[in-house]
Amino acid sequence: MKYDIVVIGSGITGMRAAIEAKELGANVALITKTSPISNNSFMAKGGINAAFGNMGDGDNVVEHIKDTIKGSMGLGEEKAIRIFCEKAPDSIRDLVGYGVEFNRLPNGKLAQRPFGGSKFKRTIFSADNTGPVIMKTLHKVVKDIDIDIIKNHFAINLLLKDGKIAGVTLLDEKTDQVVVCEAKSIVLAGGGFASLYKNYTTNVGDSTGDSVAMGLRSGLEAMDMEFIQFHPTGLEGTNYLVSEAARGEGGKLINSDGEAFVDELNTRDFVTRAIVKEIQRGKKVFLDLTDVDEEVINTKLINLKKRVKSLKKIDIAKEPIPLNPLAHYTMGGVATDPIGKTKIEGLFVVGEAGNNGVNGANRLGGNSLSEGAVFGKIAGYEAVKFSYKTKQFAGVDYYKISKDIELIEKIKQIKEKVDVKNLRNELGELLFHKVGIIRNGYQLKKVMKSFDELENKIYNSEDEKGSKTAEVLELLNGILIAKAITKSALKREESRGAHFRMDFPERDFRFEKHTLISLDEIQETE
Ligand code: FUM
Repeated sequence: MKYDIVVIGSGITGMRAAIEAKELGANVALITKTSPISNNSFMAKGGINAAFGNMGDGDNVVEHIKDTIKGSMGLGEEKAIRIFCEKAPDSIRDLVGYGVEFNRLPNGKLAQRPFGGSKFKRTIFSADNTGPVIMKTLHKVVKDIDIDIIKNHFAINLLLKDGKIAGVTLLDEKTDQVVVCEAKSIVLAGGGFASLYKNYTTNVGDSTGDSVAMGLRSGLEAMDMEFIQFHPTGLEGTNYLVSEAARGEGGKLINSDGEAFVDELNTRDFVTRAIVKEIQRGKKVFLDLTDVDEEVINTKLINLKKRVKSLKKIDIAKEPIPLNPLAHYTMGGVATDPIGKTKIEGLFVVGEAGNNGVNGANRLGGNSLSEGAVFGKIAGYEAVKFSYKTKQFAGVDYYKISKDIELIEKIKQIKEKVDVKNLRNELGELLFHKVGIIRNGYQLKKVMKSFDELENKIYNSEDEKGSKTAEVLELLNGILIAKAITKSALKREESRGAHFRMDFPERDFRFEKHTLISLDEIQETE
């Protein structure tokens, strides 16, 4: 296979990059390890941020910049944040142009609701189904303009030649064979890694950090991997996300004594820790929508109403919803410049897979979909610009390809004896309990050994369950990323944003800097 531009990942970032590149006349492939409609952009139900100021509350781009910087807790990169906030309104206009239908005000303007971390109503929405509405529309555009969608192909490793991108090795999941896809430029947009917190996450199962793992193996550094965003409002005992939209529309957080205990529209890290404190005090925590107008529930929160009814037999208009926080988003990723460029010529890493510093230590709700739309489009444009400049394919490295074939053959020999499902559960337990919302140095050090043991089980297991080659690859990537999160959390001896350490509970100005980590450092033994 040979393409001018290869986009890996089919969330909002990948789709937006692919559409931009195709509209600029490039020959484009969109590669996904599953199907283009299975990804986390579907999970952001509540909305997408852009400062239109349609609600007459004085919101504007400068306020969006200020809120995003404040929310980032000293680690936001101002240049990336400026580009993001300035371009967000246009990225919404693009989506509308493609056919996305958002809720509108009686005057025809886009309606906007409040989300956490801002005093303005800035979040544009499609009831409580925003992610799915956007993604279905973009998927249709991708098909209509004939972008080649290569499904069920797991990206194994990037291929480089003389510091330039040359292509990518893929596992064709149907034939279980390695195939090579050459490219002049690659946009890596395979998402984050919150699904590694298995059974404690809102994410679809495949956000396992594959793009970050590929970046690390290609010699790039990962940045701020310790910052894992726990969404405050998961539906208790499930992985269902009770969207922030419910608080935006007037829902109140209460404990089992009926007491309010936090400003529900504070930033997610703050609200999550307040909930954990209540739970530690032996209280249960609920979202109370019983005072919200039923008309609002039936129009703007209708999906929430239906799902809570089916999962918990609760009528949200009459009874509070029981909650616990769930891993939802990962701020860390491959370190890039403000627009997603990396040290590898022709490689761009954007969306949750990359880290240009737009979120710092804590992302604001509603910023992720617009981040994907803004930086996906920019990466698509930059990739085409690069491909025009280079003209030629860099040419592939056959030694590197043979190494990947060897790896796949090795996995094929052991996969029948590996129970990936069980090992993923174990990894989720370790991450949630030892590298979760509240951490400490002792547990962080100890859990590194458990990750090694887990890795050994892959190669020395005698289970009879049997797994697919791609599942084993995913797990290997997941363990690498788990170690990167943990080692980065150990390096940051302070508490800031989504990273809280009991042994260093205060914010410390000496750590007002990014945590960078390389493959060698992750693999170093103590
Ligand atoms: O709560 C939500 O609807 C999530 C939105 C987001 O993560 O941006």
